[in-house]
This record gives sequence, structure tokens and C-alpha cells, in this order.
Amino acid sequence: MSGLYRARPEDGLAWVTGASSGIGRGTALELARRGFRVLATARSKEALDTLVIEAAALKGSIIARTVDVTDAALQKQVIDEVEASEGPIMLAFLNAGIYWPMRAHPFDAASFKKIFDVNVGGVVNGLEVMFDRMAARGRGQIAINASVAGYIGLPRAAAYSSSKAALIVMAESLKIETDALGITLQVVNPGFVKTPLTDKNDHPMPFLMELDDASRVICDGFARGGFEITFPWQLSRILKFLRLLPYETYFSLIRKATGYPPKR
Ligand SMILES: NC(=O)c1ccc[n+]([C@@H]2O[C@H](COP(=O)([O-])OP(=O)(O)OC[C@H]3O[C@@H](n4cnc5c(N)ncnc54)[C@H](OP(=O)(O)O)[C@@H]3O)[C@@H](O)[C@H]2O)c1
Repeated sequence: MSGLYRARPEDGLAWVTGASSGIGRGTALELARRGFRVLATARSKEALDTLVIEAAALKGSIIARTVDVTDAALQKQVIDEVEASEGPIMLAFLNAGIYWPMRAHPFDAASFKKIFDVNVGGVVNGLEVMFDRMAARGRGQIAINASVAGYIGLPRAAAYSSSKAALIVMAESLKIETDALGITLQVVNPGFVKTPLTDKNDHPMPFLMELDDASRVICDGFARGGFEITFPWQLSRILKFLRLLPYETYFSLIRKATGYPPKR
């Protein structure tokens, strides 16, 4: 249990980016179940409208706004408006992210940059909009959704793994300062969770978790505090262990485990 601030529903709003689908959607609903008023943002208006209706019977509530996380100016404008009418955002879950497999040959730089733009640029835009406000209030909680894929460079995930590694290292770098500002900074490192993002995968997904279970674990982690929220523990520990191995052993094990690249 961390001594740092942890947001409670009576303190203000929770904000979830990428809330139209998958982990963001599940977490927004779980926070509303726990009594939070939640601001849900994403680009798909229709999916957000459905989410608001689904939350109507819950203890808390969800309001939705369409925002692209890469549009820093629009996102700031939306946060200004929502805070003016609904009160301060005390918990921000910067979750929006994208993934598709990538290859070394042919290498697609535009596609690589797009993943960084959303996964890293989108989070950075969220941090900018929240840090000043939370620092001025002397408290707040921000959780960044990275991934266990950021622990190591997984095959066919050059952009995704490196974007998530960037988030983890960025959070480590900011943490000491945010503690001093009264802002609880957390990094969420999920393993495989069943969502539209992982439905695209054609490879085995060990310890795949159901969305509702993952959403509960994430919200428990918000309530508990501590720097890292990672699950399932089995996959997280295996990947953390692999990170410690000499590269020769590491690459040999990864080749065996993934069967990639296939033999010609
Ligand atoms: N599923 C997993 O196994 C897993 C594991 C580790 C980490 N993660 C991370 O968890 C996060 C959510 O993934 P997911 O599995 O829930 O995927 P998902 O179901 O595809 O959801 C992605 C969400 O991000 C939003 N999004 C994408 N681009 C956006 C943009 N430019 N601006 C605003 N919102 C945007 C999407 O909404 P719109 O399209 O409506 O904008 C959607 O709500 C990602 O950061 C992912 O890397 C997932």
C-alpha cells in the first residue's frame, strides 16, 4: 500500500482515454461501478454513446467526449470545458493505444511513426494537460497504460514494444518529481487481455485474461497505489526474467518460444 494520494469518487472525476473499446471501456465501466463519475474519451462517438447508456444503472456515471489523443489542442479544450462544468479530474488513465505487427523487411517507417504518435504522443499530450492542474491542486493520480511488451523487444512488434518501453522508462524518469508534486504516477503493464486489439493476433497468447477480470485488477491497482500494476503475474515474471538473461540466451529462447521467423 502506497502512502501517496489515491483518488476517491468524492474527490472529483476519473478520465479514461481510449474508452470506446477494450481495456479503456472495461475500466471506465468498472470505475463507474465503484462510484466514480467518469469522463470517457475516444474517437468513435457511437461506441461512446453506447457506453454512456450501459453505465446508466451503475453507482457512478459516465460522460463522453470525442477526442483524438494526438490532437493536443482539442484535448485541452475538452478537459477545460469538462472541468469547468463537472469539477476537477483527480484520476487520469491514459490508456489509448494501437498495435499492428511490423516486419524488418519491408520496413514501414510511416506505420512505425503512427504507432508512436498515438501510443507515446497521445500519452504525452495527456500528461501535459493533467500535470499543471494536478500540481496546482497539490494532488492527483495518473496511470499510463504501457504493456509487458515494453519489458523486451518482442518479434514483429518493433514499434509497439519500443513505444511501450518508452512509456515505462518515461514514467520511471518522471516518478521522483511527481511524488514531490503530490501526483501519484503509475504504470499499467498488462499481459494479454481479450480485446479487439488482441483479436487480431494469430499467435498463441499465454495466460490470456478476460476483459472484466483485467478491468477489476487495474481498478484495484488504482485504489492500492504503488508504481506498477502488472498482470497476470506469471507472464509478467517470465518476461522480467528474460530481460535479465545474456542476449545470446535471450534470443535463442525467444526464437524457440515464438517460432519466429518461420524456417524457409
Ligand atoms: N489487450 C491487450 O492484451 C493489451 C495488453 C497490454 C497493453 N494493452 C494496451 O491497452 C490499451 C488499450 O488496448 P485494448 O486492447 O483495449 O485495445 P482496443 O480495444 O483496440 O482499444 C483501443 C482504444 O484506443 C482508442 N484509440 C485508438 N487510437 C486513438 C486516438 N488516436 N485517439 C483517441 N483514442 C484512440 C480506441 O478508440 P477509437 O478508435 O474510438 O478512438 C479504443 O477505445 C492500449 O494502449 C494497448 O497497448 C493492451
